[in-house]
Amino acid sequence: MEIKFTKASQLKEKPDFNKLGFGKYVTDYMFVMDYDHEQGWHDPQIVPYDEFMMDPRCVTLHYGLETFEGMKAYRTADDRIQLFRPEMNAKRMIKSNERLCLAEVPEDMFVEAVKALVAIEKDWVPNLPETSLYIRPVTYASECSIGVHPPKSCRFYVILSPVGCYYPEGVNPVKIYVEEEYVRAVIGGTGFCKCGGNYAASVKAQEKAQKMGYTQVLWLDGVHREYVEEVGTMNVMFKIDGKVVTPPLEGSVLPGITRDSIIHVLKDWGYEVEERRLSIHELMEAARTGRLEEAWGTGTAAVISPIGELNYRGEIVTVSDFKTGELTQKLYDFLTGIQWGKIEDPYGWTVEV
Ligand code: COI
Repeated sequence: MEIKFTKASQLKEKPDFNKLGFGKYVTDYMFVMDYDHEQGWHDPQIVPYDEFMMDPRCVTLHYGLETFEGMKAYRTADDRIQLFRPEMNAKRMIKSNERLCLAEVPEDMFVEAVKALVAIEKDWVPNLPETSLYIRPVTYASECSIGVHPPKSCRFYVILSPVGCYYPEGVNPVKIYVEEEYVRAVIGGTGFCKCGGNYAASVKAQEKAQKMGYTQVLWLDGVHREYVEEVGTMNVMFKIDGKVVTPPLEGSVLPGITRDSIIHVLKDWGYEVEERRLSIHELMEAARTGRLEEAWGTGTAAVISPIGELNYRGEIVTVSDFKTGELTQKLYDFLTGIQWGKIEDPYGWTVEV
């Protein structure tokens, strides 16, 4: 793919990498490419970061015809820049776009776009512990019409943001509220896609939990309001009686890349991993009887986030004495060790830019 490059007249001053937070800053450039039925994907460009002009009829604004990805670039101690399993993000976006009738971005174009942009912006990859360059690829329907139908034109773009920890708690345990009133997704819907609609449906519950002093919610399935699905914007795992249990990918749960990687690692370490339905009653009973040993969320943004407390219908249980569990910490150290190039990558998951 031939990517046209337009140089910015002036580059931004870099922020203090000690105080990045999450998603506050963007880099100097972005990747943009358009699609229509006649030309297919065309005009790939890296241009100075700027606003988009949008017709008020743009169908994305009305009907949420949008998908996105979350990935990171890491700076290693010897100053190499690496990505983590970028082809997995490309494959997932293809599946999300297919579900929303958006044009599919071929895997090689997706990865090439990300690599080209990160290569130009390599000075923005921070070098402090727990920091990285968050990569946000997005596809949206760019067609302007008020009717609801599969769009005839789309835009794919990639922006970059230097980030620290996603939660203010960092990698310390968070308090989780088990949500029964609102649901995130149902089988047959878009739960397995990374699309804005899933997140739009989630913020009300997040607001409710935060007002009650909780960091995030534990989502239950939309039909029975019984089986555990995800935690906040992450997949979730529980260590019960020495085994790791995680909800299966049946259509309502996001196929997380961190989830997949952790399952792989756990199996290699000899753990039994059960991808199965886990009812909230079974989980609470395991917590009450001391068999729930550890619990954590997995996602690109927060990596691994230990769960220290669960509140279900007012009953509060503490997990691992509100400390980061031994296995949780070991998984965090191992995965981030690979990502930041501190330990050898035995799986070939890292890709140098
Ligand atoms: C991620 O973990 O990368 C996500 O996309 C979650 C998010 C909405 C920040």
